[in-house]
Amino acid sequence: MDKPKDTLVAKTFYGLEDLLAKELEDLGATNIRKANRAVYFDGDKQMMYLANYHLRTAISILKPIDNFESKDENDLYQKVKNRIAWDNYFTNKHTFSVEATVHSSVFRHSQYAILRVKDAIVDYFREKTGKRPYIDTENPDILINLYISERQCTISFNSSGEPLFKRGYRVATSIAPLNEVLAAGIVMLSGWHPSQNLIDPMCGSGTILIEAALIAHQLPPGIFRKKFGFETWPDFDAEIFEKITKDEKENVDTSSFCSIIGMDVDDSALTKARLNVKNAFLNPYIHLKVADFFEYTPPFREGVVITNPPYGKRIKKEDIENFYKRLGDKLKKDYTGFNVWIISNNLQAMKNVGLHPAKKIKLYNGPDICTLNCYEIYEGTKKTSKHKP
Ligand SMILES: C[S@@+](CC[C@H](N)C(=O)[O-])C[C@H]1O[C@@H](n2cnc3c(N)ncnc32)[C@H](O)[C@@H]1O
Repeated sequence: MDKPKDTLVAKTFYGLEDLLAKELEDLGATNIRKANRAVYFDGDKQMMYLANYHLRTAISILKPIDNFESKDENDLYQKVKNRIAWDNYFTNKHTFSVEATVHSSVFRHSQYAILRVKDAIVDYFREKTGKRPYIDTENPDILINLYISERQCTISFNSSGEPLFKRGYRVATSIAPLNEVLAAGIVMLSGWHPSQNLIDPMCGSGTILIEAALIAHQLPPGIFRKKFGFETWPDFDAEIFEKITKDEKENVDTSSFCSIIGMDVDDSALTKARLNVKNAFLNPYIHLKVADFFEYTPPFREGVVITNPPYGKRIKKEDIENFYKRLGDKLKKDYTGFNVWIISNNLQAMKNVGLHPAKKIKLYNGPDICTLNCYEIYEGTKKTSKHKP
């Protein structure tokens, strides 16, 4: 008999939905449907574990258990308490916590909605068993996700627990580190292949380089995680999960791999990158050095640059605009033969790069809108007129 399948939801960042759908397809998920910042799919318990362990562009994997309309917080309380048989899922001995995403003109305070859902679950158990389960916001056994869009409420279990961008390798962060899921997404969007040299000349804590090396070596992003949410669910199947984590990675032939190089002008940032790279066991594959981008000449004639320069939060407007102008000039001078991908949320400063982007992709880094621009630098790459769109 086929194992029972649930509808599951993989959440992601805006702009990464296509990549995530492809990743799910490659994993063997079925009935894949793209939505805004999410991809729905069908899967059994094993697929849920696989998704958590393998997906590079997912932030979390949710398992929805109920969906209903609600008119206010009291109605929400009643429905959460009366519609769901909570003791089918966990007991009063488990700790739990509730997280919420709310887009609603009715439910204006997400913290209050969270409180009502917590109360409803506590009261459900107290009335049924005489004992209440305790809340643990730090490390709950069960993480419940509440999603409200206007009056439509969805209750799910968050099978990931801590978001999946918390890979477990990053022990040190520099100023404005890129989110790991976004970094993996950018590397995948760039189409970089390990046979091409890769440089991040402003690598900060090294996120882009590490995500690229994990992709090259087909190392699952979940390999460093200490815990996934589903491991403390009462129905956790350790045998299935052990098999997933023990599955030998395919023998990757690294003989044709090129260099992955990271630089940063700030040696404290580079110290952090070194720590993170070491923690991910990727030292043999990622070469790091303290260098000023404007004074460094790449050691090869072609390759891919993926980088996120300073956004300018701590720099004066004229200075940051001049920084991006110098960046463009340097690319034209010394990076002929490279495809250069720059992500920045300083859309104004990006215009100063002065090169015509071959591609422009809209992304979000948390709440900040970003642009990922690809510049193909070839002999005679033209400057764009300031008046061109
Ligand atoms: C937004 S941060 C990069 C964050 C990085 N992607 C991460 O995940 O940690 C920008 C980095 O550019 C570096 N930087 C600024 N000017 C530079 C220059 N002239 N040459 C090299 N690196 C530079 C900063 O030190 C900073 O670490």
